[in-house]
Amino acid sequence: MKKEQVAHCQFSVWYPIFKKHTIKSLVLPLPQNVIDYLLDDGTLVVSGSVLNTQPTHNTNSDSESVEDIQWSDDETTTTVTAPEFPEFTSNVQEAINALGGCVFPKLNWSCPRDANWIALNNSLQCQSLSEIFLLFKSSDFVTHDLTQPFHKCSDQDSPDPEIKYELVLRKWSELNPGGEFRCFVKENKLIAISQRDYTQYYHHILTQKEQVRLAIQQFFHQHIQYNFLDEDFVFDVYSDSQGRVWLIDLNPFGEVTDSLLFTWEELMSGGEVHQQQESPVLRCSTSEVTVQPSPCLSYRIPRDFADLSTGEDAYKLIDFLKLKKSQQEESEEEEDEEGEEAQQ
Ligand SMILES: Nc1ncnc2c1ncn2[C@@H]1O[C@H](COP(=O)(O)OP(=O)(O)OP(=O)(O)O)[C@@H](O)[C@H]1O
Ligand SMILES: [Mg+2]
Repeated sequence: MKKEQVAHCQFSVWYPIFKKHTIKSLVLPLPQNVIDYLLDDGTLVVSGSVLNTQPTHNTNSDSESVEDIQWSDDETTTTVTAPEFPEFTSNVQEAINALGGCVFPKLNWSCPRDANWIALNNSLQCQSLSEIFLLFKSSDFVTHDLTQPFHKCSDQDSPDPEIKYELVLRKWSELNPGGEFRCFVKENKLIAISQRDYTQYYHHILTQKEQVRLAIQQFFHQHIQYNFLDEDFVFDVYSDSQGRVWLIDLNPFGEVTDSLLFTWEELMSGGEVHQQQESPVLRCSTSEVTVQPSPCLSYRIPRDFADLSTGEDAYKLIDFLKLKKSQQEESEEEEDEEGEEAQQ
């Protein structure tokens, strides 16, 4: 896997080519001060009062409006101002509204899948930039995009391609994980397909294996093959309830991409996968017995909560609680309004 191949899998590179076959999305350039802010562990997402914190000075001097922590008369309470990015915030909100009010956020390559334990509703669905920031700041995958996008590339000595960081907002779509598949393409040939949510058993995949394979093969031949910038790549698809296939993402053909029910060794070189001449090998979980723990389990609670409990990363908890509170207040207000309307 070469650096250039990784660069080709950035969202804004593949999206214009396959726009018709994927979920509607908008891309916004990430200003440098927002990138610095995402990488800075010591900054908050939401402003407000904090109890018993140590006074620290915000190091993010590039943000559009940053105030230092102010001590109130009562020494146990501080008011912390999170950095604000008014112009970027309004652009993002406009884009969220244009996509129907709920979005799935990503950076150039990755979504903050490993951070959904901190999300308000345990999902990556976002309605505001604060929610997106909270997820991004809690995600190792997002940090990886920002700090080492060319990790594991074979051409380490060549210069890194220039990367323009971007916030990708995709219209929120309820996808049934049983309809998701990962497809491996080598030398422009579809060689293997794996159930994406491989830790679960889906009876329908097993019974409709042949139809699924055919639908994906047809989609590949009609819309994907020879249209991408490389001949080795991995694409993810969703087969909806009507059997229509949609493109979800493009990924590099190499170790940075999870090979799911295959191993990279067999995808690269030999065995069953390469003996098949006509149709790709499709693998899915075959019984409840094979069900394994979720792959993101190790990201879920231990690390971040360990940080929280030692006080090293109290900011994330504060942000989480504040977002939760404002969401509650909003829904109480809505209930009150509904109550008043009902009384009238
Ligand atoms: N628009 C969307 N609305 C709701 N859920 C989505 C949307 N797009 C993707 N998802 C869900 O999020 C999962 C991850 O999305 P995606 O493949 O874009 O992220 P990724 O970071 O590139 O993942 P990977 O590291 O596995 O390549 C998908 O498998 C799908 O279940
Ligand atoms: Mg991906």
